[in-house]
Amino acid sequence: MFISRTILNSKPTAIAIINNSIRNASNKTKTGIVMMNMGGPQKIEQVYDYLHNIMTDRDMIQLPFAQDYMGKWIAKRRTPEVQKKYSEIGGGSPILDWTNKQGELLCKKLGEILPNHGPYKHYVAFRYVNPFTKDAFEEMKRDGIEHAVLFSQYPQYSCATSGSSYNAIYNYLKNNEAMKDLKISVIDRWSSHPLLVKCFADLIKEELHKVSEKNRKDTIILFSAHSLPLKAVNRGDPYPSEVGTTVNLVMNELKYCNPYQLVWQSKVGPLPWLGPFTDEAIEGYVKQGKKSFVIVPIAFVNEHIETLHELDIEYCQELAEKVGVEEVRRVPAPNVQPIFISALADIVKHHFENKVPVTKKFLNQCPHCVNSNCYNSKKWFKSVASF
Ligand code: FES
Repeated sequence: MFISRTILNSKPTAIAIINNSIRNASNKTKTGIVMMNMGGPQKIEQVYDYLHNIMTDRDMIQLPFAQDYMGKWIAKRRTPEVQKKYSEIGGGSPILDWTNKQGELLCKKLGEILPNHGPYKHYVAFRYVNPFTKDAFEEMKRDGIEHAVLFSQYPQYSCATSGSSYNAIYNYLKNNEAMKDLKISVIDRWSSHPLLVKCFADLIKEELHKVSEKNRKDTIILFSAHSLPLKAVNRGDPYPSEVGTTVNLVMNELKYCNPYQLVWQSKVGPLPWLGPFTDEAIEGYVKQGKKSFVIVPIAFVNEHIETLHELDIEYCQELAEKVGVEEVRRVPAPNVQPIFISALADIVKHHFENKVPVTKKFLNQCPHCVNSNCYNSKKWFKSVASF
């Protein structure tokens, strides 16, 4: 069995990129690019707080009752198991390092292709671990930022991920007098961006090329995305259809060269989630006599626990060996691929050119949303987002 080993050790080394575009001659930073994501614990000791923040976030997960109490209990119970997983990928999540690298390269590129809105500086706003929303905005205040572009780092929008981050920003800014002069605008989704599509297609081609010739043409491309509770899907969360959009555009770019399937990973708890699940799909295909796979983390833009542990260790190693997979390779996340950085820069460039401070899609609630936080947040963004 062949596994792409380089991916297993892909935690980035220290960042040594000097971003000359941050400051102009007057030494004043003008545009802040806020890189929003859920984040991940950098150290084992942060795991409990991280899980606790997730389990008590009602935008992310709705427990049937006593969320604060139950969330604390679940976080405590899951901490040892999750700590073990982080220790097996090097002792922490690499997501902050990757996000900083992406942000620095993005700002450098923006300084070249869109100098009139620069200089640029990126700020990381994680939802469940530091640096939090508050940290990003306080730093922007200190830097004298005039315009903050709230750039979700999830290409496909879900109310549980991007939506939760925007609600957190709303809750932080709504009565914040100190921030009232800061202009904000929103980039909430970019699942169909041509350079994102090309980036995934190129990465897949590279991995397919490494598959043995005898298996290559029958290798199944498994696009794996984080699953969602069916309750959220039925509420109207746009995430499944946006993930499907990326998959179809990538396969179109690849001229439908191989069989493919969209599958879903990382289900937690006993309630029903969107399937088919990645591990069960691999098992099912092996039973049908198909033994070669290329797995694509289609909704993750950088490596973290779901790619480095769940895909690489649990599925590509342990499960593959158990069920008799002949060949499996995992496509790396876009990380700092030059074409991916170009995609990010192009998205920001078009945002400034089109001058749509927040999209109509973002402002529209899910048809069955009953979360007042969503209603108030969208109403607030509609009134304040501007250029
Ligand atoms: Fe989607 Fe509230 S759950 S807008």
